Amino acid sequence: MPTLLHIDSSPLGEASVSRQLSAEFVANWKKANPNGKVVTRDLSTATLQPINGEWVGAAYSPEEARTPAQRAALATSDALIAELEAADEYVLGVPMHNFGIPSVLKLWIDLVARVGKTFSYAGGAPEGLLKGKKATFVVASGGVYDAASAAAAFNFVEPYLRAVFGFVGVTEVKFINAGGAAALNYGKVDRKTFLQPHVESIRAQFKAA
Ligand SMILES: Cc1cc2nc3c(=O)[nH]c(=O)nc-3n(C[C@H](O)[C@H](O)[C@H](O)COP(=O)(O)O)c2cc1C
Repeated sequence: MPTLLHIDSSPLGEASVSRQLSAEFVANWKKANPNGKVVTRDLSTATLQPINGEWVGAAYSPEEARTPAQRAALATSDALIAELEAADEYVLGVPMHNFGIPSVLKLWIDLVARVGKTFSYAGGAPEGLLKGKKATFVVASGGVYDAASAAAAFNFVEPYLRAVFGFVGVTEVKFINAGGAAALNYGKVDRKTFLQPHVESIRAQFKAA
């Protein structure tokens, strides 16, 4: 039974572009995988704590030597990593905030990028341990950051997500970029017209599959 892990990080609820498009991906995935399981994690309502010294000390202590307090410090990280390990595929709805990813998503990444669990230097070179997974990122931004645009150099979302997911072993990645969402806020385009090409590109992925 294939499993999809669906992660959203926009604080904007029903007004969110990335949430609406990640939901479109999930709906298509369910149709393509009628026996599949979808696990949903909403980071905007999660109360993840930033990692601290105790967390780092625990993560770098050998598992068998960890104290009960150290094990407790890693409990949330363990649970989030277990979700990544159990899923075959991931879809993440990502709003661009200040040219990067939202802080709640960064907190989550800090908790799941963990030595000996999702990456390893044991062989001398870094090795990602999440093998055989694929990820789709649905990114919404107010501006347009296409490769050919003058603003492309300000897009720290896609290069960062490619780097950090690649680091933990997830190299099969796709991006659906819904740039120009500011036009929605200014009433220059209606929501359906704005979303339609992105909805089509999600549907096309499933037709091609
Ligand atoms: C706190 C905040 C910061 C933002 N920073 C940027 C930015 O740096 N560049 C940009 O193009 N849009 C920026 N935007 C606009 C959002 O990327 C845009 O509204 C997008 O639709 C957000 O995704 P969402 O609708 O899924 O929340 C920002 C919006 C918010 C709320």
